Amino acid sequence: MDYEKIQNAANFLKKRYQEQPIIGLILGSGLGVLGDEIEEAVKIPYNEIPDFPVSTVEGHAGQLVFGLLNGVQVVAMQGRFHYYEGYSFDKVTFPVRVMKELGIQQLIVTNAAGGVNESFSPGDLMLITDHINNMGSNPLIGPNDSRMGVRFPDMSEAYSADLRKMAKEIASNLNMKVQEGVYVGNTGPTYETPAEVRMIRNLGGDAVGMSTVPEVIVARHTGMSVLGISCISNMAAGILDQPLNHEEVIETTEKVKASFLQYVKAIVAELGSR
Ligand code: HPA
Repeated sequence: MDYEKIQNAANFLKKRYQEQPIIGLILGSGLGVLGDEIEEAVKIPYNEIPDFPVSTVEGHAGQLVFGLLNGVQVVAMQGRFHYYEGYSFDKVTFPVRVMKELGIQQLIVTNAAGGVNESFSPGDLMLITDHINNMGSNPLIGPNDSRMGVRFPDMSEAYSADLRKMAKEIASNLNMKVQEGVYVGNTGPTYETPAEVRMIRNLGGDAVGMSTVPEVIVARHTGMSVLGISCISNMAAGILDQPLNHEEVIETTEKVKASFLQYVKAIVAELGSR
């Protein structure tokens, strides 16, 4: 990971947007609409930012959105980079490093995920308590640049207990049900086989997806606190007697959009008032 490139991208963004964002948001499949809620927005397409990768998946706008969410200065990634698109882990996590360089200390990561825990239902929101890296590699492999973080980062609180407690209180204030559980990150792009879903359940996974894990590893390397929220868009393969498809994922995120937006905005307002 080239620190000069990270600084270069961050300096470019600081020139384009002079306020100091305090919260970073990564918006998952179908959840990019949150970026449209940002007021006084300055939108910067990824292809204008030096060394930024460019997104290829449908339903991902591919821009950084700076501005006010519920009165709080934020920067949101509308569209993320996935390992299955062919990007290296360095590319996938580059925006997280840039956010850190912009001064972000708190990162809210969202995704659409398959429900592995049979007590979950499509449309549930799940606070991520922890993750299992099942992607076969780690974005920190390679020489460690100590300007960015330590060689052997602690992952005992990958997802901040403090932020999760706050998020649970907000859910209860809003009368919203939120689940909690362990997110398992696979590479994709295939959905899992039913046997893999049984394995994931036996290993302690509650939800499965194709993102988030690399970004959170890098966020923790840089010392950011992370709050993770999965939208359970479907039950994982083999649980219901029906095949999976991307349209279903988008349909469900579309249905929960309103409550998801309300929830994340309330969380951001609380973080901004701290
Ligand atoms: N598996 C993996 N990734 C996903 C799923 C799933 O069932 N749903 C949404 N993203």
